Amino acid sequence: MQKVVWDMDPGIDDALSLILALRSPEVGILGITVVAGNAPLEMTGSNARRVLEHLDAGNIPVAAGAAKPLCRPLEDALGYHGPYGLGDSSLPPPAASLHPEPAWDFLSRAALEAPGEVTLLATGPLTNVACAFERHPQLPGLLAGVVLMGGAYGLTSYGRGNRTPAAEFNIWQDPEAARVVFDSGAGILAVGLDVSMGPAACLGARHLERIRTGQTPAACLAAQLVQYEMRHHGCCRMHDPLALAVLIDASLFRFVSGKVEVMVTDGPERGATRISPLDNGQESSGGSRPTQIASAVDGARFLELFVSRILDERHV
Ligand code: RIB
Ligand code: CA
Repeated sequence: MQKVVWDMDPGIDDALSLILALRSPEVGILGITVVAGNAPLEMTGSNARRVLEHLDAGNIPVAAGAAKPLCRPLEDALGYHGPYGLGDSSLPPPAASLHPEPAWDFLSRAALEAPGEVTLLATGPLTNVACAFERHPQLPGLLAGVVLMGGAYGLTSYGRGNRTPAAEFNIWQDPEAARVVFDSGAGILAVGLDVSMGPAACLGARHLERIRTGQTPAACLAAQLVQYEMRHHGCCRMHDPLALAVLIDASLFRFVSGKVEVMVTDGPERGATRISPLDNGQESSGGSRPTQIASAVDGARFLELFVSRILDERHV
């Protein structure tokens, strides 16, 4: 089992990913930190706790971080994720309070308590991660690695932007933070739109029909979230569940190595991500470990993993 600390901005696909994680023995969630992104910080903090409590995992601590990007205003995506960020689901308000530490201190302490053992999964804008790395410079080297959902690298015909033609939402939201993270020297594995926008990796009507046969709280919530996104957007994009899937079964993916450049301009290139090849012996992304970027995924096998685990009655 991999120890994981998870920075997220729930959001429908973050929530679907959390449901999958809680039904996957390969992943042990030490804690969750939340960031503003899909929704304002108060909502992402509430949504993480609501989903955890719905799935009888309310013991997992949730720490709040940044309410806005490092140096830009927040531009949320509630127009996509629904008025409260979780479609039209109606989970009760959270019973548990937020963890008292800010997200960046929580992330650092988790890594310090288990040097080299903890993987940081990031499925939102990278503001909290950048803050953690800047406040705790030893953190990148203490982590087993970073798996992040973010970027559009032109590795497939789907590797174009979804917030702008050039940029993926998480990176676009806080490009300065993304540059700090990619240049941190942490061992980074990035899952971008190149694989998550491929139709083979998106949930469709027949998957929803199967999920609807589930009777558990997890299956019922997943069905609600998937149904909302399909009704409003035609299919259910699995950006964040794909990032989590790297920790469950990396054989689902193929990767390329390179140095990731993030455009931090204000123009149409804001948040664009480009891969430059590593020269022989050149270090990647400002540090000692190569950056891996997902270039392909076995979409059918990934979706089967997702649906079968959602329907597995051995869990909540
Ligand atoms: O571009 C998709 C990413 O942005 C996903 O993580 C989604 O939840 C949003 O955060
Ligand atoms: Ca997200």
